[in-house]
Amino acid sequence: MAHISDLIETDIEGYLKAHETKGLLRFITCGSVDDGKSTLIGRLLYDSKMIFEDQLAALESDSKKVGTQGGEIDFALLVDGLAAEREQGITIDVAYRFFSTDKRKFIVADTPGHEQYTRNMITGASSAELAVILIDARKGILVQTRRHSYLTSLIGIRDVVLAVNKMDLVDYSQEVFDKIVADFRAFAKQIGFENVLAVPISGLKGDNITAASTSMPWYKGPTLMSHLETVEITDRWRNAPFRMGVQWVNRPDLDFRGFSGQIASGAVRPGDRVRALPSGKESRVAKIVTHDGDLPEAIAGQSITLTLEDEIDISRGDVISGTSALPGIADQFNATIIWMNDEHLLPGRPYWLKIGTQLVTATVTDLKCKINVNTLEHLAAKTLELNEIGEANVSLDRAIAFDPYNENQETGGFILIDRITNTTVAAGLIRFALRRSQNIHWQAVDVNKQSRASLKGQKACVLWFTGLSGSGKSTIANLVEKQLFALGRHTYLLDGDNVRHGLNRDLGFADTDRVENIRRVGEVSKLMVDAGLITMVSFISPFKAERRLARGLLEEGEFVEIFIDTPLAEAEKRDPKGLYKKARAGEIENFTGITSPYEAPENPEIAIDTTKMSPAEASAHILNWLEEKGVLLGFRAPEDDTPTA
Ligand code: ADX
Repeated sequence: MAHISDLIETDIEGYLKAHETKGLLRFITCGSVDDGKSTLIGRLLYDSKMIFEDQLAALESDSKKVGTQGGEIDFALLVDGLAAEREQGITIDVAYRFFSTDKRKFIVADTPGHEQYTRNMITGASSAELAVILIDARKGILVQTRRHSYLTSLIGIRDVVLAVNKMDLVDYSQEVFDKIVADFRAFAKQIGFENVLAVPISGLKGDNITAASTSMPWYKGPTLMSHLETVEITDRWRNAPFRMGVQWVNRPDLDFRGFSGQIASGAVRPGDRVRALPSGKESRVAKIVTHDGDLPEAIAGQSITLTLEDEIDISRGDVISGTSALPGIADQFNATIIWMNDEHLLPGRPYWLKIGTQLVTATVTDLKCKINVNTLEHLAAKTLELNEIGEANVSLDRAIAFDPYNENQETGGFILIDRITNTTVAAGLIRFALRRSQNIHWQAVDVNKQSRASLKGQKACVLWFTGLSGSGKSTIANLVEKQLFALGRHTYLLDGDNVRHGLNRDLGFADTDRVENIRRVGEVSKLMVDAGLITMVSFISPFKAERRLARGLLEEGEFVEIFIDTPLAEAEKRDPKGLYKKARAGEIENFTGITSPYEAPENPEIAIDTTKMSPAEASAHILNWLEEKGVLLGFRAPEDDTPTA
C-alpha cells in the first residue's frame, strides 16, 4: 500500500527519496471496548489516504450494509476487517497497521481492550515507542484506562498521548476535558510517564485528528496527527550496549565457526572486543557475516553471524556482549510478573523461563506482593490470578546473563512457560539480581555421595511413592523399608503425614501449599540421597509438575517413581482414616480425588495395581525391580515370592 501524495504525480523520484529517509514511529493504541479505537485508527488511515480505492468502495458499501453510522462511512469497518470479528463485534489479537504521511511512517499496534487480552497488549506495547491512550469522554478514566496505562509504563513507554474521544457526545465541553486530564495527570505522575499530551478528539467526526477542530476553539494544542508526526522519540534501546543471544552455532565445515542470532541491542563492528556469557571468555569480532556479504557494522534488530578471532566455547543460548558495559550474571532475581493464564501462579512450581535465546527452569520462590493497578497499592498475596501483576523473587536452575529491564528491554524481559502444556503463562521484567545469589557459592566437599553410598554397599536412590490418599502408599513403603532393613540396607522413609507434623507443619492442602510441600520433600530427599541412603518418599504428590521437579533434582536413574494405582472408588471404599467420608460430607476442603485433582503418572518406573497385588506382593515386586537395576548390589530376591505383575 502506498501513501497517496501529490508528489507522486509531479516528482516521483522526490517522493521515493523522501519516503525512504522518513523516520518511523511505532505506537500502540489502548482503550476499553467501546472507546472508539477502531474508528480512530480507521480515521488515521483514511485521512492519511492510506486506503486502496477498491477498499474505499467496499468500505462505502459495507458502511451502508452493516455500518453503525446510518449509512455514513463507518471507519471501524476498515480496521475490524475480518468478517467473523465484525459479526461478533470485537477485535482480538494484535493487528499491526502501517500508514505514512509526508513527514513520517507509522506502525500502529492495535490491541484489544478486553482485560483477558493483556498478553496481546504486552506484545503490542513491547515494540512501541509511544502509546495513545483512548478515553471515552462520557466515561472518563476507567479501571481499564489505569490498567493499560500501568502496563504501558511497565513495558517502558514514556511518551503518551491521552486522546479524549467522543468529544462530540459531550458538546465539545472544555470542562469535561479538563476534568479527565486532571484525573489522568495525577495517575500518570505516579507511574512515571514523562511526556503526556492530552488532545480532545472525535474519531468519528474527525475533530483534531488531522485538521484542527472548529468546534473546540478553546483547544490550542496540536492535532493528534501533527503530534505523531513531530514528537521526538528517544530510541533508548538502539544506544544500549551490544547484546546478542546465540540462536545457533553455524559450523558447516572445520574452517568456519560462526555464531548466529539477532542483535538484541546496540551495535557491533569487526575488531570489537566481545565476551561470551555466562562463561566469561573474551575474543574479538573477526567478521560480521550475512546473506548480503560481510558488514562493516550491524545494529539492533539485524540477524547476523559473528566469527571471532579466537576459538572460544560458545553454545546456543549463550549471550555475546560488548565489554564496556557487561550484563549481570545471576540465578536469582527480583522481578515484576504479569500473570496471563487462567490457572493461577503456583510459587514453588518449576516453569520454563525464556529470556532472549536462554531457556532455563525457574520457580517463583517468594511472591512479595500483588499490585492494585487502580491505587498502585501493594497487597499481600499467595498467588497471582489471570491479569494480576506482582513482584516476586525468582530462582533459576542455572545462572543467565541479563540486564535490568529498565536498562535493556531485550535482555531484561522474559516469559514464563508451563512445562507441560507449553503455553506462555506470564511476562516478567527483571528489576534486579538478588545479591545473596552472588554471595553464596557451592562448597566442595571431599566425601561425596558415591563414597557415602559405597561404604553402605548400595546405590543411593529415591523410591517415590505417589497415589491417592488411602491407596496403600505408606503400607507398601513401610514393607519395602522393612525388607531393605532386614537385608542390611541403609534407608529412610519420608511419609507425608509425618513430615507434615514437623518440617511442613505450616502447610495445608491448597495447591500452592501442596506444591511447596513437594518442593521441600524433593529437596530433603535429594539431601538423603547425597547422604547415600535409599530414600522412600510416600506423599500423595498429586501434580506432575512437582514430581518432575523432584526427579530433576536428582541424577539420571536415581529417581524411581512408583505409582500406587488404586482407583478412587477402591480407596474410598477402604477409607482407612475415615477422611473420604468427611470429604464427601463437605468437612474437608481440597480433598484429593474429590475436590482437588490427582494427575496420575504417565510413565512411572513401577506401577502397582493394588486391586491385583497384595501389599506383600507389591513390596516383593519393588525389591525385585531394585535388584535387577543393580540398586541392591549383591541382593537376591527369594524366588517363590516374585509376583507376576
Ligand atoms: S500432598 O498432596 O501434599 O502430597 P501429603 O501426602 O503430604 O499430600 O498428605 C496427605 C495426607 O494428609 C493424606 O494421607 C491424609 O491423611 C491427609 N489429608 C488431610 N487433608 C487432606 C486433603 N485435603 N487431601 C488429601 N489428604 C489430606
